[in-house]
Amino acid sequence: MKKNERMRPAVEEGELDFSGKYSLERAREYYRKHQKGSLGRRISNRWEQQMAGRALKLAGNPRSVLDLPCGTGRFWELLARDPDRELLAADYSEAMLVVAQEERPQEIVQRFRVFQSSAFDIQLPDNAVENIFCMRLLHHIGESEDRLRILKEFHRVARDSVCISMWVDGNYKAWKRQRAVKRRPKRKRFDNRFLHSRQQVESEFAEAGFSIRGKVDFLPRYAMWRTYVLECD
Ligand SMILES: C[S@@+](CC[C@H](N)C(=O)[O-])C[C@H]1O[C@@H](n2cnc3c(N)ncnc32)[C@H](O)[C@@H]1O
Repeated sequence: MKKNERMRPAVEEGELDFSGKYSLERAREYYRKHQKGSLGRRISNRWEQQMAGRALKLAGNPRSVLDLPCGTGRFWELLARDPDRELLAADYSEAMLVVAQEERPQEIVQRFRVFQSSAFDIQLPDNAVENIFCMRLLHHIGESEDRLRILKEFHRVARDSVCISMWVDGNYKAWKRQRAVKRRPKRKRFDNRFLHSRQQVESEFAEAGFSIRGKVDFLPRYAMWRTYVLECD
Protein backbone atom coordinates (compact mmCIF):
# COMPACT_ATOMS: atom_id res chain seq x y z
CA MET A 1 0.00 0.00 0.00
CA LYS A 2 1.28 3.47 -0.87
CA LYS A 3 2.46 5.45 2.14
CA ASN A 4 -0.08 8.24 1.72
CA GLU A 5 -2.95 5.72 1.60
CA ARG A 6 -2.40 4.53 5.17
CA MET A 7 -5.56 4.66 7.29
CA ARG A 8 -7.62 6.27 4.52
CA PRO A 9 -11.25 5.77 5.65
CA ALA A 10 -13.47 3.54 3.50
CA VAL A 11 -16.53 5.49 2.40
CA GLU A 12 -19.55 3.53 3.65
CA GLU A 13 -22.96 3.68 2.00
CA GLY A 14 -24.79 6.93 2.77
CA GLU A 15 -21.51 8.75 3.48
CA LEU A 16 -19.88 11.48 1.39
CA ASP A 17 -16.95 10.97 -0.98
CA PHE A 18 -15.05 13.72 0.80
CA SER A 19 -15.18 11.72 4.05
CA GLY A 20 -12.61 9.30 2.61
CA LYS A 21 -10.05 12.07 2.18
CA TYR A 22 -8.08 11.95 5.42
CA SER A 23 -5.36 9.30 5.35
CA LEU A 24 -2.58 9.48 7.94
CA GLU A 25 -0.42 11.69 5.74
CA ARG A 26 -3.33 14.03 4.93
CA ALA A 27 -4.16 14.22 8.64
CA ARG A 28 -0.56 15.17 9.50
CA GLU A 29 -0.61 17.75 6.71
CA TYR A 30 -3.87 19.22 8.10
CA TYR A 31 -2.34 19.50 11.56
CA ARG A 32 0.83 21.21 10.23
CA LYS A 33 -1.11 23.56 7.95
CA HIS A 34 -3.12 25.05 10.80
CA GLN A 35 -0.58 24.87 13.62
CA LYS A 36 2.67 25.64 11.86
CA GLY A 37 1.66 26.99 8.44
CA SER A 38 2.06 30.50 7.00
CA LEU A 39 1.62 33.55 9.21
CA GLY A 40 -1.74 34.23 7.51
CA ARG A 41 -2.93 30.70 8.33
CA ARG A 42 -1.85 30.99 11.96
CA ILE A 43 -3.58 34.36 12.34
CA SER A 44 -6.79 33.04 10.82
CA ASN A 45 -6.58 30.01 13.14
CA ARG A 46 -6.33 32.38 16.11
CA TRP A 47 -9.34 34.39 14.91
CA GLU A 48 -11.30 31.21 14.39
CA GLN A 49 -10.53 30.19 17.97
CA GLN A 50 -11.83 33.55 19.20
CA MET A 51 -14.95 33.15 17.09
CA ALA A 52 -15.51 29.66 18.53
CA GLY A 53 -15.02 31.01 22.06
CA ARG A 54 -17.72 33.61 21.44
CA ALA A 55 -20.05 30.95 20.06
CA LEU A 56 -19.55 28.78 23.16
CA LYS A 57 -20.35 31.78 25.36
CA LEU A 58 -23.55 32.38 23.38
CA ALA A 59 -24.36 28.70 23.89
CA GLY A 60 -24.16 29.38 27.65
CA ASN A 61 -20.73 27.79 28.30
CA PRO A 62 -22.10 24.24 28.06
CA ARG A 63 -21.21 21.63 30.72
CA SER A 64 -20.74 18.84 28.20
CA VAL A 65 -19.58 19.19 24.60
CA LEU A 66 -19.12 16.77 21.72
CA ASP A 67 -16.52 18.10 19.25
CA LEU A 68 -17.64 16.56 15.92
CA PRO A 69 -15.77 16.41 13.62
CA CYS A 70 -12.79 17.09 15.88
CA GLY A 71 -10.19 16.58 13.12
CA THR A 72 -6.76 16.97 14.70
CA GLY A 73 -8.18 18.57 17.85
CA ARG A 74 -7.68 22.19 16.77
CA PHE A 75 -10.20 23.40 19.36
CA TRP A 76 -9.33 21.06 22.22
CA GLU A 77 -7.34 23.61 24.25
CA LEU A 78 -10.23 26.06 23.95
CA LEU A 79 -12.87 23.48 24.89
CA ALA A 80 -10.81 22.22 27.83
CA ARG A 81 -10.36 25.72 29.29
CA ASP A 82 -13.37 25.04 31.49
CA PRO A 83 -11.99 22.52 34.02
CA ASP A 84 -15.44 21.11 34.84
CA ARG A 85 -16.62 20.53 31.29
CA GLU A 86 -17.23 16.95 30.19
CA LEU A 87 -15.54 16.51 26.80
CA LEU A 88 -16.15 14.08 23.95
CA ALA A 89 -14.59 14.15 20.51
CA ALA A 90 -15.29 12.15 17.36
CA ASP A 91 -14.39 12.05 13.70
CA TYR A 92 -15.06 9.76 10.73
CA SER A 93 -11.33 9.47 10.09
CA GLU A 94 -9.31 7.30 12.45
CA ALA A 95 -6.15 9.00 11.17
CA MET A 96 -7.37 12.42 12.29
CA LEU A 97 -8.05 11.01 15.77
CA VAL A 98 -4.59 9.42 15.90
CA VAL A 99 -2.86 12.69 14.98
CA ALA A 100 -4.98 14.68 17.47
CA GLN A 101 -4.02 12.33 20.27
CA GLU A 102 -0.33 12.31 19.28
CA GLU A 103 0.07 16.04 18.84
CA ARG A 104 -2.08 17.70 21.50
CA PRO A 105 -0.72 18.05 25.06
CA GLN A 106 -1.40 14.84 26.98
CA GLU A 107 -3.10 16.62 29.89
CA ILE A 108 -5.63 17.98 27.34
CA VAL A 109 -6.01 14.68 25.45
CA GLN A 110 -6.83 12.88 28.69
CA ARG A 111 -9.83 15.11 29.27
CA PHE A 112 -11.52 13.80 26.09
CA ARG A 113 -13.45 10.63 25.42
CA VAL A 114 -12.40 10.06 21.81
CA PHE A 115 -14.24 7.77 19.38
CA GLN A 116 -14.71 7.19 15.68
CA SER A 117 -18.14 8.18 14.40
CA SER A 118 -19.97 9.55 11.43
CA ALA A 119 -21.94 12.76 11.92
CA PHE A 120 -24.80 10.97 10.12
CA ASP A 121 -24.97 8.25 12.75
CA ILE A 122 -23.46 9.35 16.05
CA GLN A 123 -22.58 6.47 18.36
CA LEU A 124 -24.31 8.04 21.38
CA PRO A 125 -27.81 7.83 22.91
CA ASP A 126 -30.44 10.59 22.63
CA ASN A 127 -29.67 13.80 24.58
CA ALA A 128 -26.21 12.51 25.46
CA VAL A 129 -24.49 15.92 25.52
CA GLU A 130 -25.50 19.49 26.22
CA ASN A 131 -23.83 20.86 23.10
CA ILE A 132 -22.42 19.68 19.75
CA PHE A 133 -19.53 21.77 18.48
CA CYS A 134 -19.20 21.31 14.72
CA MET A 135 -16.48 23.32 12.98
CA ARG A 136 -15.70 23.16 9.25
CA LEU A 137 -17.94 20.29 8.24
CA LEU A 138 -21.02 21.89 6.71
CA HIS A 139 -19.14 23.69 3.92
CA HIS A 140 -18.32 20.21 2.62
CA ILE A 141 -21.99 19.22 2.41
CA GLY A 142 -23.46 20.29 -0.91
CA GLU A 143 -26.88 18.61 -0.76
CA SER A 144 -29.72 19.92 1.39
CA GLU A 145 -30.87 16.35 2.07
CA ASP A 146 -27.46 15.49 3.58
CA ARG A 147 -27.36 18.63 5.69
CA LEU A 148 -30.80 17.81 7.03
CA ARG A 149 -29.75 14.27 7.92
CA ILE A 150 -26.82 15.67 9.93
CA LEU A 151 -28.87 18.42 11.59
CA LYS A 152 -31.56 15.94 12.66
CA GLU A 153 -28.90 13.63 14.09
CA PHE A 154 -27.42 16.58 16.04
CA HIS A 155 -30.90 17.39 17.34
CA ARG A 156 -31.23 13.81 18.59
CA VAL A 157 -27.91 13.83 20.46
CA ALA A 158 -27.69 17.44 21.77
CA ARG A 159 -29.95 18.41 24.69
CA ASP A 160 -29.55 22.15 24.43
CA SER A 161 -27.46 23.65 21.61
CA VAL A 162 -25.24 23.25 18.58
CA CYS A 163 -22.39 25.55 17.44
CA ILE A 164 -21.92 25.02 13.71
CA SER A 165 -19.66 26.83 11.25
CA MET A 166 -20.03 27.15 7.49
CA TRP A 167 -19.53 29.46 4.51
CA VAL A 168 -22.50 31.77 3.92
CA ASP A 169 -23.45 34.29 1.23
CA GLY A 170 -24.07 38.01 1.69
CA ASN A 171 -20.44 39.15 1.97
CA TYR A 172 -17.58 40.26 -0.28
CA LYS A 173 -15.70 36.92 -0.36
CA ALA A 174 -18.88 35.03 -1.25
CA TRP A 175 -19.56 37.42 -4.11
CA LYS A 176 -15.97 36.92 -5.34
CA ARG A 177 -16.21 33.15 -5.09
CA GLN A 178 -19.55 33.01 -6.94
CA ARG A 179 -18.07 35.14 -9.71
CA ALA A 180 -14.90 33.01 -9.94
CA VAL A 181 -16.90 29.75 -10.05
CA LYS A 182 -19.09 31.10 -12.90
CA ARG A 183 -15.98 32.00 -14.89
CA ARG A 184 -14.44 28.53 -14.56
CA PRO A 185 -15.00 26.06 -17.40
CA LYS A 186 -17.95 23.76 -16.44
CA ARG A 187 -15.77 20.66 -15.95
CA LYS A 188 -13.62 22.54 -13.40
CA ARG A 189 -16.46 24.03 -11.39
CA PHE A 190 -16.67 21.28 -8.81
CA ASP A 191 -14.61 21.25 -5.67
CA ASN A 192 -15.64 19.70 -2.40
CA ARG A 193 -16.46 22.99 -0.65
CA PHE A 194 -19.78 24.78 -0.90
CA LEU A 195 -21.05 28.23 -0.15
CA HIS A 196 -24.53 28.17 1.42
CA SER A 197 -27.39 30.61 1.08
CA ARG A 198 -28.27 31.94 4.55
CA GLN A 199 -31.95 31.71 3.74
CA GLN A 200 -31.62 28.07 2.71
CA VAL A 201 -29.60 26.87 5.71
CA GLU A 202 -31.72 28.84 8.15
CA SER A 203 -34.84 27.11 6.83
CA GLU A 204 -33.02 23.75 7.19
CA PHE A 205 -32.25 24.55 10.85
CA ALA A 206 -35.97 25.18 11.46
CA GLU A 207 -36.92 21.97 9.64
CA ALA A 208 -34.53 19.97 11.83
CA GLY A 209 -36.06 21.47 15.00
CA PHE A 210 -33.66 24.30 15.85
CA SER A 211 -34.05 28.02 16.40
CA ILE A 212 -31.15 30.43 16.03
CA ARG A 213 -29.78 31.70 19.34
CA GLY A 214 -26.99 33.74 17.77
CA LYS A 215 -24.45 34.15 14.97
CA VAL A 216 -20.75 34.92 15.02
CA ASP A 217 -19.15 36.19 11.81
CA PHE A 218 -15.43 35.89 11.18
CA LEU A 219 -15.19 39.36 9.58
CA PRO A 220 -18.71 40.73 9.09
CA ARG A 221 -19.62 41.59 5.46
CA TYR A 222 -16.16 40.52 4.28
CA ALA A 223 -15.49 36.83 5.08
CA MET A 224 -17.66 33.79 4.34
CA TRP A 225 -17.15 32.00 7.68
CA ARG A 226 -20.09 32.18 10.05
CA THR A 227 -20.79 30.15 13.18
CA TYR A 228 -24.43 29.72 14.09
CA VAL A 229 -25.45 28.93 17.63
CA LEU A 230 -28.59 26.83 17.41
CA GLU A 231 -30.99 26.00 20.19
CA CYS A 232 -32.89 22.71 20.31
CA ASP A 233 -36.63 23.46 20.27
C1 LIG B 1 -11.93 20.35 7.47
S1 LIG B 1 -11.82 19.09 8.71
C2 LIG B 1 -12.36 20.00 10.17
C3 LIG B 1 -11.87 19.40 11.45
C4 LIG B 1 -12.00 20.30 12.71
N1 LIG B 1 -13.37 20.53 13.08
C5 LIG B 1 -11.28 21.62 12.48
O1 LIG B 1 -11.96 22.63 12.30
O2 LIG B 1 -10.06 21.62 12.45
C6 LIG B 1 -13.22 18.10 8.30
C7 LIG B 1 -13.29 16.83 9.13
O3 LIG B 1 -14.53 16.19 8.88
C8 LIG B 1 -14.32 14.79 9.02
N2 LIG B 1 -15.47 14.12 8.41
C9 LIG B 1 -15.74 13.96 7.10
N3 LIG B 1 -16.91 13.35 6.93
C10 LIG B 1 -17.41 13.10 8.17
C11 LIG B 1 -18.58 12.47 8.66
N4 LIG B 1 -19.50 11.97 7.84
N5 LIG B 1 -18.74 12.38 9.98
C12 LIG B 1 -17.82 12.88 10.84
N6 LIG B 1 -16.68 13.46 10.44
C13 LIG B 1 -16.48 13.59 9.12
C14 LIG B 1 -12.99 14.58 8.33
O4 LIG B 1 -12.42 13.35 8.67
C15 LIG B 1 -12.22 15.79 8.85
O5 LIG B 1 -11.56 15.49 10.04
